[in-house]
Amino acid sequence: MAAPFYITTPIYYVNARPHLGHAYTTIVADVVNRFQSMSREQTYFLTGTDEHGDKIVRAAKKENCTPREYVDKISGLFSSLWPEMNISNNAFIRTTDPSHIAVVESILQRIYDAGDIYFAEYEGLYCFGCERFYTERELVDGRCPDHQTPPETIKESNYFFKMSRYQQWLIDYINANPDFIRPERYKNEVLAFLREPLGDLCISRPKSRLKWGITLPFDHDYVTYVWFDALLNYVSALGYPDGELYHTFWPVAQHVVAKDILKPHGIYWPIMLKAAGLPIYQHLNVHGYWNVDQSKMSKSIGNVIEPLEMKNIYGLDAFRFFLMRDMAFGLDSNFSEEALVGRINADLANDLGNLFSRVLSMAHKYFKGVVPEPALDVEKEMDLGLAQKARNAIDAYAANMDTFAFHKALAAVWEFITHMNKYVDITAPWTLAKNKAAHKQLETVIYNLLEGLRIISGLIYPVMPDTATSMQKHLGLDGDDAFYKMDRLTIWGGLTPGIKLKKSISLFPRVELKDRQQKNQSAESESAMASPIKPEITIDDFAKVDLRVATVISAQAVPRAKKLLQLEVDLGEKRTIVSGIAGSYDPESLVGKQVIVVANLKPAKLMGVLSKGMLIAASDDSGVTVATLDKPVKAGTPLS
Ligand code: MSP
Repeated sequence: MAAPFYITTPIYYVNARPHLGHAYTTIVADVVNRFQSMSREQTYFLTGTDEHGDKIVRAAKKENCTPREYVDKISGLFSSLWPEMNISNNAFIRTTDPSHIAVVESILQRIYDAGDIYFAEYEGLYCFGCERFYTERELVDGRCPDHQTPPETIKESNYFFKMSRYQQWLIDYINANPDFIRPERYKNEVLAFLREPLGDLCISRPKSRLKWGITLPFDHDYVTYVWFDALLNYVSALGYPDGELYHTFWPVAQHVVAKDILKPHGIYWPIMLKAAGLPIYQHLNVHGYWNVDQSKMSKSIGNVIEPLEMKNIYGLDAFRFFLMRDMAFGLDSNFSEEALVGRINADLANDLGNLFSRVLSMAHKYFKGVVPEPALDVEKEMDLGLAQKARNAIDAYAANMDTFAFHKALAAVWEFITHMNKYVDITAPWTLAKNKAAHKQLETVIYNLLEGLRIISGLIYPVMPDTATSMQKHLGLDGDDAFYKMDRLTIWGGLTPGIKLKKSISLFPRVELKDRQQKNQSAESESAMASPIKPEITIDDFAKVDLRVATVISAQAVPRAKKLLQLEVDLGEKRTIVSGIAGSYDPESLVGKQVIVVANLKPAKLMGVLSKGMLIAASDDSGVTVATLDKPVKAGTPLS
């Protein structure tokens, strides 16, 4: 049985709204957690928010609210974003949680009792405007960057953590565990820091200048330095010291962070653990920075990427795929919508989407949507080695996922997808279908293609869980647990002949860059129109509108009209209705649905199609949602 697995993200400061960078780290941790859960019984995934310190106090002041009100608000933005991003975290910790505070106090006391915390005078550059110390490096031309005044040198008594005592221990530990910090460039960076003498760490702030923090258990005039408090979230969330989760997961802990917080995680944190007598975490996985259109993301440039906006425009799975495929973990990367659109159209719409709809359509055309029985010798005869190619892809994928080389893992899957597309071209099922003698060959070819798709759907699951689930459903594998277990997923021949497939769908419609502006504009005008309540009407006015229940018989796209679908509905009689819902619904998914229609609306021609009636739907930022009924009623029933 594989060991348990524990993964964490940094806990994010609540002084800014969540953006692309936070989403990336959290999606990485989610992908890893999902991947590891495919071969393990137990995994645990933690994220959360870092809520103490002067940064937060200043941000709250700017917003004219108390730190407590402010942290509740921004922490809520993070915790409500993650479900939208399909993040599978088991827990969400806040450093203002009383259970976390208790752990910080107990560990501080422990280290203090062991003699590794001492009291001393500290001299530094202080800005009275900001009420904080600055390092020389933070100053701009020797002045405070906010107040443009030179800071004053002041002396302050504080508590210090004896980090220097553990410097040699840490160097030895890193050398003895070469993949403790990975990729290697970051291990080297930490070792380079450690070549210089390591100072002791000031771990307190006097309450006279900062109250928003955890009071030191051994001196109530001081609060804890925010990093000393924050790092301990990784154990407090597990219920340290007695929690079962702590015993199960702490020994297998892995952290994911970006290079900006390498020093606290690579130096302070292992030393804190050592001094407190706790086991050291297993791996620190460090990634690079996302820049946007070649510059650093920043509010003042106005290039901050909002994850929800990307989801709404391009779809969640496409966004997740792009982030995993385009960044080599460890290196910086550039985010641009052009690149995102390029990936969606090439890798998702073209390579994967086309393959999926082609194969499913053929299975329907040639075998009435039932998985055919393969005659494996034919596969050998044709010598196309699809099963072997799948095996190679699985092995490369798994090895790269294990070491956080997500871009390579996905490249291996896409190599297999390319091979599958070639397999279709070479075997030419449409030619086999014309020749009765080739029926067995046709059965095998279609079986192999469906089987290849089953394996692909499992391999993409960690990165694109919704797409994987949709593929699974269309392959007739609803509720099949094997899909989520690596050992069973990857055995060639797992698809059972005789099962019924669902109709083909388009997994990823092609997108265009200009969609973004258009969608933003239409979202703005829609919400502007939706907000005010219209003037009062009488019941007689309302009675003029003939609302009826209609059952959708068929649906199809209107050629050259990206937003429109043409529906054939039954509302007691058959009608054609054109509706602007193509961006939010696959035509197929509507068939059989009962919808609500304005039956007496004057007919109108839309893109050459005469529409006799209108569908009732709601539209908000996330797209259009068609109004349906709670339970089925007879088609044509009027609404009142
Ligand atoms: N609160 C501390 C972490 C404490 S952990 C015990 C903190 N918070 S933060 O809100 O500033 O988050 C920093 C992290 O956000 C980075 O390490 C990274 O995970 C993510 N990112 C923020 N901007 C980023 C990019 N531009 N690119 C990639 N990730 C970045 O530091």
